[in-house]
Amino acid sequence: MTGPALVTGASSGLGREYARALAARGHDLLLVARRRARLEALRDELVARDGIDVDIVACDLATDAGLADCRAAIAPRPITVAVLNAGFGSLGPFDEADPEHEARMVRLNCLAVVDLARQLIPDMRARGRGQIIVISSAAAWHPVPFMATYAATKAFELHFVRALAEELRGSGVGVLAVCPGPTDTEFSAALSAAGRRAPGWPKAMPIETARGVVARSLAAADAGRTVVATGPVAQTTHVATRLIPLGWTLRIVGAVHRRRARIPAGNAHGN
Ligand SMILES: NC(=O)c1ccc[n+]([C@@H]2O[C@H](COP(=O)([O-])OP(=O)(O)OC[C@H]3O[C@@H](n4cnc5c(N)ncnc54)[C@H](OP(=O)(O)O)[C@@H]3O)[C@@H](O)[C@H]2O)c1
Repeated sequence: MTGPALVTGASSGLGREYARALAARGHDLLLVARRRARLEALRDELVARDGIDVDIVACDLATDAGLADCRAAIAPRPITVAVLNAGFGSLGPFDEADPEHEARMVRLNCLAVVDLARQLIPDMRARGRGQIIVISSAAAWHPVPFMATYAATKAFELHFVRALAEELRGSGVGVLAVCPGPTDTEFSAALSAAGRRAPGWPKAMPIETARGVVARSLAAADAGRTVVATGPVAQTTHVATRLIPLGWTLRIVGAVHRRRARIPAGNAHGN
């Protein structure tokens, strides 16, 4: 598929790799994130390497004004591929979380995705072709204690995509939910709640690369799939979620994330 592509959250991690991969496929790009200098550096890299046109919008998609700026940049462009990737999480007990941080997360991970998809899909349907790629997560498979809001936003994205894919069946417009496990980006460094910094993952945890997630998800989009679990953690937990009773899953996942958030068992947040 040719034509201009949109990537939100293009200033780092998965978004930056989607931009590189789509540029290599010959797409002109519209890149969106808050950090303008990062977007400019990426634009310079891709224009020099691939000879494509790259425009940038430095805006905060968790705000009405930022979303309006993004919509205005999309409007004149016949976007054929949209990667709705911008997102962040938080880790820690919900009752200690910054309420504004949690609300911003819902605005970015859910409302911005709905808003941009609503703008993009009618034009794609009218043209009879297009691909929406929403970056959900393996955290969408089940609720995640100590990442309660984040996992709920990712489940929202997964359900949203599955429903849209059915609505758009036969229209020429594909919709894909990408569900990575832990991936080597700036996501973990940005995880914070109540002043905690995320400690990272145990050494044995298989960590995906951003490049691998992007390659596997673009292949899944090309194959017309609706959901892709991109790595071993996402694939294993997807199967496990179907086999293990939800109550057990919550206890196990809660214990893992309690450790990650360094919350002593037996305190006010223990069982
Ligand atoms: N890494 C993982 O382990 C993992 C696993 C599963 C799913 N995911 C999902 O993957 C997606 C990308 O995350 P990543 O891992 O690549 O993390 P990342 O390196 O932290 O990238 C996040 C991107 O989102 C942008 N962003 C954050 N807040 C924004 C806002 N208010 N407005 C506009 N852009 C904003 C950031 O740019 P600015 O800061 O410049 O705005 C950045 O480009 C997220 O949706 C995340 O939930 C990540």
